[in-house]
Amino acid sequence: MRVCTIGTGYVGLVTGACLAHIGHDVICVDNNPEKVELMKSGHSPIYEPGLSEIMKSAMAANRLQFTTDLGAGIEHGEILFIAVGTPPLPNGSSDTQYVEAVAKGIGQHLNGEYKVIVNKSTVPIGSGDWVKMLVLDGVAERTKQPLLVGGGDTPPPTQLTPQFDVVSNPEFLREGSAIYDTLNPDRIVLGSNNQQAIDLMLKLYSPIIDRECAEDTSLPPVAVLATDLGSAEMIKYAANAFLATKISFINEIANICERVGADVTQVSKGIGLDSRIGNKFLNAGIGWGGSCFPKDLAALIHTGADYGYDARLLKAAVSVNQQQRTLVIQKLQNSLKILKGKTIGLLGLTFKPDTDDLRDAPALDIIHILIELGAKVKAYDPIISPQSSINPHLVNVNLVSSPQLLATDSDALVLMTEWSEFQEINYQHLAGLMRSPIVVDCRNFLSPTKLAEAGFNHIGIGC
Ligand code: UDX
Repeated sequence: MRVCTIGTGYVGLVTGACLAHIGHDVICVDNNPEKVELMKSGHSPIYEPGLSEIMKSAMAANRLQFTTDLGAGIEHGEILFIAVGTPPLPNGSSDTQYVEAVAKGIGQHLNGEYKVIVNKSTVPIGSGDWVKMLVLDGVAERTKQPLLVGGGDTPPPTQLTPQFDVVSNPEFLREGSAIYDTLNPDRIVLGSNNQQAIDLMLKLYSPIIDRECAEDTSLPPVAVLATDLGSAEMIKYAANAFLATKISFINEIANICERVGADVTQVSKGIGLDSRIGNKFLNAGIGWGGSCFPKDLAALIHTGADYGYDARLLKAAVSVNQQQRTLVIQKLQNSLKILKGKTIGLLGLTFKPDTDDLRDAPALDIIHILIELGAKVKAYDPIISPQSSINPHLVNVNLVSSPQLLATDSDALVLMTEWSEFQEINYQHLAGLMRSPIVVDCRNFLSPTKLAEAGFNHIGIGC
């Protein structure tokens, strides 16, 4: 099928590349010419395992193109994905100006062909109808003529009638495993009131639904859920809010565990064995970060407030998450007392491993607090090069190129991100380089026994 994805951020580029990978003919549109040039040369602007490889092979098969020309993309696609950013505004609501511009742009370029416009960006509930209105505005601007509203459930169109439907198809991919998640989803949610649009989406996703691209043959069938537009939009927010709340829940249990002498890693195992609870997203630590959870919770709380509802549970999940950052500072203070003038080495900066994403990374909060307290901050991250101190959040950080340089003359290490290579470090060697061999393990990632044998005082979370 002919597909156009508009916006080549995480969601747009991964969606475009994966759809080309499974055989569709895809054009990805972005308004940033440098980014488009980079992608045309087969390079991904984001660090995501496996992405460049599938981009290159789809390009070699002539199934994946990149352009800044929105009109050409819209002309090409029978399915148009809106996958532009919806960053948070200071009040927590989403900034939808990019969605608005693209929806109007689609309207301005629609031809007579029936198109499915897919909201892939995480958009406020109600955006499906709003996008439909904006597309019609775009058409009206171009034609300056009164419109007939098209769509599969309307009377046969004339040449000038815009023929389209809007589908909400929320994205559930995780950074770091975006390709796997896209090709091997648990479920596909399609929000629309139009069967023609749903049928086209089912055709588009059929290789994925039929698990044709799954390496793991034991995966259960993909669940396909067709809903109304608003429910599909809410599913995205509710899923992220639930996962974030689950993490805040286990962090709260961790904090009580510490006080009563229990071990949250064992408690987490014990409760996760209950199939009603499940064992995922029960790792206690420094709290959640990243580009989705903080933004989506803020937006959902804001939506509740807009409609007169005080989302107290969600607010508590956010508050526990913020508190988790300060608990780590307290642990350092308990060990080192005054932090002013002390050197703290951060192992990892990204909000999670296998990504170069620093958005809302817990490490940025910790850096901010440590600097305020007068500590000196060093950091080592496998993907963030020492030249990255250009990043405004890292200007006061001494970025080094190895764990050994990090440990040298540090008063404590703080493991912020569970990069697998951190388990392979020779900690005995590191202990010898430090002023005091202390490690605050914010992810309960290192073996306390091994670290103790290496001469470290290992301080975990909730144990
Ligand atoms: C998330 C959702 O998982 C995904 O479905 C959605 O599409 C986008 O948001 P992502 O932000 O890539 O994906 O990361 P995820 O792996 O979910 O982790 C989010 C945060 O929670 C990270 O900071 C991670 O370290 C933290 N986390 C996760 C925990 O602290 N404990 C856990 O048990 C799991």
